[in-house]
Amino acid sequence: MTKPSFRPKSPLARLATCALFLTVLLFTACQKQESIEPTFSSIWEHRLSKSCANCHQPGAQADQANVHIDFRDKLAAYNGLLASYVKGLTGSTTCNSVKLVTGGFPEQSYLVGILVSAYNKNNFAGQIGCQPINDHIEGQYASPAEQEAILNWILSGAPYN
Ligand code: HEC
Repeated sequence: MTKPSFRPKSPLARLATCALFLTVLLFTACQKQESIEPTFSSIWEHRLSKSCANCHQPGAQADQANVHIDFRDKLAAYNGLLASYVKGLTGSTTCNSVKLVTGGFPEQSYLVGILVSAYNKNNFAGQIGCQPINDHIEGQYASPAEQEAILNWILSGAPYN
């Protein structure tokens, strides 16, 4: 008597394998659609131009609170972020020696303190009492994918790319 070394798969098993394959495929496809790259262009397109420009343009709320970056324009947003120190009404007393973006150093980039949860802590960038204002964007940090893109863009030196 010889036993078969393996059994042919039941239709149910085949169906299960197929379903698993489709799920993985669908998941990968969906993830790709939302992908944000670690470049300034991608970050500006996905985030800064969409959810920040309302308040960050001449005459709007941030401008009135002494923060004069214009997020509507990509180059203006980039130049503002790279050139400015913290000047807003809340941060200017305790964080005024911190830059908004310091290429290569997320822990010294106030933008990161605002948008990336793991970096939002008191005494930011070694400044006593400096707590990045994380509550001004409806209490929300950027999404995990956005946080990663912002971190990697700054770690790569924050080029205009
Ligand atoms: C509802 C209006 C509003 C929105 C939306 C908004 N901001 Fe602001 N932002 C402000 C105001 C007002 C200040 C100044 C707050 C203060 O210092 O008291 C500020 C301050 C900042 C600062 C600190 C600058 C400094 O010199 O103190 C940064 C950086 C910043 N915002 C980035 C962003 C980013 C990035 C987004 C989008 C993800 C965003 N903001 C969305 C109103 C807004």
